[in-house]
Amino acid sequence: MNDLATLGAADTTAPLLPLPEARQQLTGLLAGEDDLIANAANTAAFLNTLLADINWLGFYFVHDDVLVLGPFQGNPACVRIPVGRGVCGTCVASGETQRIDDVHAFPSHIACDIRSRSELVVPIQTDDRIVGVLDIDSPSVARFSQGDQDYVEALADEFVRHQFGQR
Ligand code: SME
Repeated sequence: MNDLATLGAADTTAPLLPLPEARQQLTGLLAGEDDLIANAANTAAFLNTLLADINWLGFYFVHDDVLVLGPFQGNPACVRIPVGRGVCGTCVASGETQRIDDVHAFPSHIACDIRSRSELVVPIQTDDRIVGVLDIDSPSVARFSQGDQDYVEALADEFVRHQFGQR
């Protein structure tokens, strides 16, 4: 590819909407409803429309010391993940977002969908505890940038603000 073509190339993994618009639309989507499953389902479906090159996107919620599958977009997935195991369980145990460029190099990665090559897992965190995670898988290695992480964390915070009235 020559320089001119490179200069004109679009970023094919940029989110469909800038963050302020995405946040506003998510707020509108959740307005007036407090049911966790309904709101998590619509949040997952909405985020799935915003992000390209994704093969799975959804929630797991913490029940005691196990993560249990919540609303998602994608193929059927593992139902229960112990806290501390896999990328999702590590997110809960550490309290930190996990942005994994190559899941094959993550020792305890749980391969729910064989196509997944990189993964972004964001904690769903109220003021006093982690109640779940938002998990996003891509078939491309190193799909998620720091900008993607910031974007998804901001939308996850919006979900928490609406659902739990905190943060
Ligand atoms: N890969 C995840 C498991 C969930 S699936 O990706 C939907 C993990 O290692 O925790």
